[in-house]
Amino acid sequence: MSATSMRTHQCGELRAEHVGQTVTLTGWVATRREHGEKLAFVDLRDHSGVTQCVVDNTVDVRAEYVLQVTGVVAARPDENVNTKLPTGAIEIQQCSVVILNAAEPPPFPISERADNVAENTRLQYRYLDIRRERMQKNLRIRAAVNSAIRSAMEAQGFVEVETPMLVPSTPEGAREFIVPSRQQPGSFYALPQSPQLFKQLLMVAGVDRYYQIARCLRDEDLRADRQYEFMQLDAEMSFVEQDDVHTAIGNAVIAAARAAGHETGEIVKMTWHEAMNRFGVDKPDLRFGMELTELTDVFSATEFKAFAGAACIKGINAGGKAEEYGRNKLDGLTDRAKKMGAKGLVWLKVAADGTFESPVAKFLSEAEAAAVRERLSAQPGDLILIVADEWSTTCEVLGQLRNDLGRPPVFEGPYRYLWVVDFPMFVGVDEASGRPKPGHHPFTQPHPEDVHLLESDPMNVRSQAYDLVLNGWELGSGSIRIHQPELQARIFDLLGIDEEEQQRKFGFFLNPFRYGAPPHGGFAFGIDRLVAILAGEENIREVIAFPKTQSGADPMTNAPTPVSAKQLDELGIRVLPPKS
Ligand code: AMO
Ligand code: AMP
Repeated sequence: MSATSMRTHQCGELRAEHVGQTVTLTGWVATRREHGEKLAFVDLRDHSGVTQCVVDNTVDVRAEYVLQVTGVVAARPDENVNTKLPTGAIEIQQCSVVILNAAEPPPFPISERADNVAENTRLQYRYLDIRRERMQKNLRIRAAVNSAIRSAMEAQGFVEVETPMLVPSTPEGAREFIVPSRQQPGSFYALPQSPQLFKQLLMVAGVDRYYQIARCLRDEDLRADRQYEFMQLDAEMSFVEQDDVHTAIGNAVIAAARAAGHETGEIVKMTWHEAMNRFGVDKPDLRFGMELTELTDVFSATEFKAFAGAACIKGINAGGKAEEYGRNKLDGLTDRAKKMGAKGLVWLKVAADGTFESPVAKFLSEAEAAAVRERLSAQPGDLILIVADEWSTTCEVLGQLRNDLGRPPVFEGPYRYLWVVDFPMFVGVDEASGRPKPGHHPFTQPHPEDVHLLESDPMNVRSQAYDLVLNGWELGSGSIRIHQPELQARIFDLLGIDEEEQQRKFGFFLNPFRYGAPPHGGFAFGIDRLVAILAGEENIREVIAFPKTQSGADPMTNAPTPVSAKQLDELGIRVLPPKS
């Protein structure tokens, strides 16, 4: 498979069993070392590995020269065997060398030891960065994952359909990239944030099971788990309930993980309420404990004024961190809690005799202290943190502190997958309109048991939206959609979107639903995120061939760049001077 007209083997392929064979390798010079007066060692590299070639000292090659080397595979003398290298038992002798191309000295060494190369430099010379083992490995894991996802989806009867990249601008959460129309100056396309509306129309169209490995574009602030451009496994199914979607997507994830060499344990399910109550986040990392522990009842008659009358009091036991957390660090935690909206933070250090050391210890009764000790399984040396507030604030603040104090890097095993279900239909109230804001998108089906509460108690309506979480990262989201025009109208009424606005913004999407839309639902997960975790990376840039920097630039191509006055003219666009 690896042989071509120019080579017989790849550089990582040869073993002791090949000794005696005449072979031809092609690749890049990784290193060249003098070996006595007449000979030199050249380590020849390609994506598969390196092979040591013994060449004539007169061969004038330097790092990254491209060579074709023909010679005989020989066993290395025992003392020269390199057990760390798969090809370490052999070398190529009696070499004839053809220089296929010379190379300028690279701006950084193409070895894994050069990991301290600045991000910008790596991206400016991405074609050299990708020569390194890490990137070669990651791109190959990514390809294997894509291929496994395709097979898993096809095996389940999903049909791959491509959806357009030039779409109308539709409000879907994030900011859009827009593309000016030359034929209709003043009008714009948007680049799709996801194929959401098209995939639902494919269900109306009777496709039944659609999937696509889809490119999505969102003009968001970039972070470790966010790029402007990213890939989703996007899927939609007709005549299904939530569990059907979870099973189909779960199968794809299991296949993807296996392709990257990981077995997936059980994908558990948890309601959003339980996730918030126990872990304080809607994407709990189940790899560690430190769960939020209920203490409201313990302090129901407390004299401690910070806790008296609070709606919800919870604590976490951060484990044996009492010694590590001196005054400065504790003040830091308190500041962080306050920034997240808490009124304060109580910390208790557990002393050798089990009593609490804390400025507020004296305000706690004997019974309260005993209950806290018992509920949080306090051991000497432990650090306990307590917050009293509204339920959501208490949970959110402690959830963040739990992550800050306990969360391992995202890629560390054991991998813990989790479906979070029953998200609230609405989150908060829009300040301008006073209307509830949709939690997912406005096409999400409410939970059947809660539909009667839509008008009377919207904030307590659960939706049929769900997320897939891995090690505390949101891998993806989806929902069962509304297919009944009357229900959709009720939701729009609640959101304060009138008939005219519905038609203007979503008409192309809503009108087809009058022609017999089947019950349907779907899901999309971020392939970049899944691959990053599977490849042992903390930033999705490491699994994308040509990503953007934090500021959205590509130092290799210099994008984004200004365009010519002629181009702008054709598009009827005038650029304003930058705001100072
Ligand atoms: P959502 O907006 O939650 O859902 O996106 C699904 C998943 O896509 C990935 N993702 C990203 N990955 C990298 N960079 C980004 N900027 C980025 N934004 C999102 C995440 C996320 O969980 N159409 C709906 C799905 C549906 O309802 O079927 C959607 O796009 O992993
Ligand atoms: P105060 O009574 O405001 O001086 O606070 C006494 C201690 O209780 C301080 O350590 C505060 O950080 C803490 N504290 C105050 N309010 C809360 C609260 N709602 N939840 C947790 N700790 C609090």
